[in-house]
Amino acid sequence: MQTQVAIIGGGPSGLLLSQLLHVRGIDSVVLERKTKDYVLGRIRAGVLEQGLLALMEEAGCAERMHAEGFTHDGTLISYGDEMFRIDFARHTGTPVMVYGQTEVTRDLYAAREAAGGRIVYNVEDVVIRGVDSEAAHVTYRVNGEARRVDCDFVAGCDGFHGVSRKTIPEDVRREYEKVYPFGWLGVLSETPPVNDELIYANSERGFALCSMRNANLSRYYIQCSLEDSPEDWSDDAFWAELKRRIPKDQVEKLVTGPSIEKSIAPLRSFVTEPMRWGRLFLCGDAAHIVPPTGAKGLNTAASDVHYLYHALWEYYGNGSEAGIEGYSAKALARVWKAERFSWWFSSVMHRYPDQSEFDLKMQRAELEFLGSNEAAQAAMAENYVGLPY
Ligand code: APR
Ligand code: PHB
Repeated sequence: MQTQVAIIGGGPSGLLLSQLLHVRGIDSVVLERKTKDYVLGRIRAGVLEQGLLALMEEAGCAERMHAEGFTHDGTLISYGDEMFRIDFARHTGTPVMVYGQTEVTRDLYAAREAAGGRIVYNVEDVVIRGVDSEAAHVTYRVNGEARRVDCDFVAGCDGFHGVSRKTIPEDVRREYEKVYPFGWLGVLSETPPVNDELIYANSERGFALCSMRNANLSRYYIQCSLEDSPEDWSDDAFWAELKRRIPKDQVEKLVTGPSIEKSIAPLRSFVTEPMRWGRLFLCGDAAHIVPPTGAKGLNTAASDVHYLYHALWEYYGNGSEAGIEGYSAKALARVWKAERFSWWFSSVMHRYPDQSEFDLKMQRAELEFLGSNEAAQAAMAENYVGLPY
């Protein structure tokens, strides 16, 4: 097979890139290790920045998102029974959209299929070759049969556990990591959300988040131990613990019900540098991970896709390599700011096992300051709705 851009990974990064390239007349092939159903079975955060909305529009995939997504002009932050609001509209004039990542991915698949895009599922043993030369290609197996794609460029969109990052030689690659000593236990339930806006809750017993997918589908999380497994948590135990962590007036409104999904995710901050090696570019989770506090995962993937798509468009349009040369530095500059925000917001909202009395006082002071200071709220709002590309 021959293509201009071989894309490893059919998650949101790979599909969005493929569709945007298609809109500009650039051909790509997506190689995905799993099946489409498997990819669509993953449940992930659902807060989209304007930059991602604009990309979905440019990709011709925004219709259902605009019809079914919810515009949010602010978010709530609580500590104990105190609660304050960060007003995105007032501080930035920009809202966010609540629309599940799974739905974003579904819309992108639909668009690729409608356009006759080539997606190969169930690929095994993907090896990226020749990206440090003029002869880039990818070899892989499907149903035991060896195959090959020849290409100009390779986009590594294969997530944290993919092969793309590891293709960059160890003496070139630098990795930065922080692993948090807790996880998030998430529950999806067919109940109305407790509140119109998200509530990020700091409590003595640990963090909690009240989020949503639609008018009758809620998504809740509580900070949990990394030793816990979802089976340790009955629905009743989950709801009881959530109620202990959110303000009393919210507890009174909370509608509980059976969980339709329950899972635990560890929290990690991770960045790899550089994000380009020769003709290989890393995008999304392949290059960086953020803890979910602040919902920057998909949005940071989207800004990578934006820079890479423009770089390739420029290259095929007028032969300029400026975008390609500048990709890694540009993408990383924004990635590190999203890392900082996610790390800061996580550190303010969670209970840490080794937190001293002093640390707790600092956390409390930080929240009181944020709750009462316009400049701090403006900074939070700017970061939450997404820094400019
Ligand atoms: N070969 C082919 N495909 C692979 C390989 C491989 N060796 N390894 C992984 N993949 C596929 C995975 O099966 C997955 O479908 O790559 C895809 C990567 O998708 P994601 O992990 O969703 O990563 P990305 O597309 O960058 O999306 C970023 O996902 O994890 C969230 O918080 C993150 O919201 C962010 C978004
Ligand atoms: C979610 O709805 O799953 C969600 C929302 C906001 C976050 C993380 C997750 O910060």
